[in-house]
Amino acid sequence: MAVVLEQPASLDAQPAPPATRVLRAEGVRKVYRSGADEVDALRGVDLDVRAGEFVAVMGPSGSGKTTLLNCFSGLDSIDGGRVLIEGRSIHELPDAERTKHRAAAMGFVFQAFNLILVFTTVENVELPLLLAGTKEAEARRRAEETLARVGLGHRFRHRPTELSGGEQQRVAIARAVAGRPRIVWADEPTGNLDSEMAGSVMDLLSELHEEGLTLILVTHDNTVAARGTRLITVRDGRIVEDVALPATV
Ligand SMILES: Nc1ncnc2c1ncn2[C@@H]1O[C@H](COP(=O)(O)OP(=O)(O)OP(=O)(O)O)[C@@H](O)[C@H]1O
Ligand SMILES: [Mg+2]
Repeated sequence: MAVVLEQPASLDAQPAPPATRVLRAEGVRKVYRSGADEVDALRGVDLDVRAGEFVAVMGPSGSGKTTLLNCFSGLDSIDGGRVLIEGRSIHELPDAERTKHRAAAMGFVFQAFNLILVFTTVENVELPLLLAGTKEAEARRRAEETLARVGLGHRFRHRPTELSGGEQQRVAIARAVAGRPRIVWADEPTGNLDSEMAGSVMDLLSELHEEGLTLILVTHDNTVAARGTRLITVRDGRIVEDVALPATV
């Protein structure tokens, strides 16, 4: 019979035990080649993320934040090291397996929303569910339920161009979480929003985090980063700082 030992709080700072670790990156390297030029975008990056963390990623433009997100999530290939998501080495999986694993475990939110403009909000949200094999009626039900959850229950039939920027980003968040992923990656999700809309988008992401979602979020905005439980600073393809953040009220 398994015995569960209570962990003293002080052990929190220790490396994550495999059971609660959702991400482990080991010596990840990424080199972009264009013609004779080479850019070392990631220079051997290690990172451990535990379930339920909200990791804010900051750093100067061109430092490698987007590359880190794309490589760690398996959206892009790597040139060295390995990345384990929930214990599986994602870059070593066959393409179809990696895509399936990504669809089941992860959601993505981008600065430019990336919604399909000819689709309604509900069609945008249900698309990844349909691609993942969810039956039509169930995909529609879940898309509507998730849109209601992000405060857009009255906007099912609108198209993205008929929504404000903040509303479009909430549709994108609904799309990212409708499949109930355990990890959401967000690359400057408030970068195109004014401060009020950014606040409401961050309230939503913070709520989802409080419900147990692991969130890894790139931002240039200190107030956005302050919502995190942990702040990582990237510079010149390396993590140069990694600190726990105090809880905000
Ligand atoms: N597809 C690509 N081909 C060649 N070089 C690239 C490519 N994508 C990014 N780079 C280079 O890799 C480095 C890291 O880029 P990255 O997009 O990760 O930076 P970033 O930290 O996200 O910057 P920003 O804050 O401006 O979004 C930069 O020097 C960039 O010019
Ligand atoms: Mg970027």
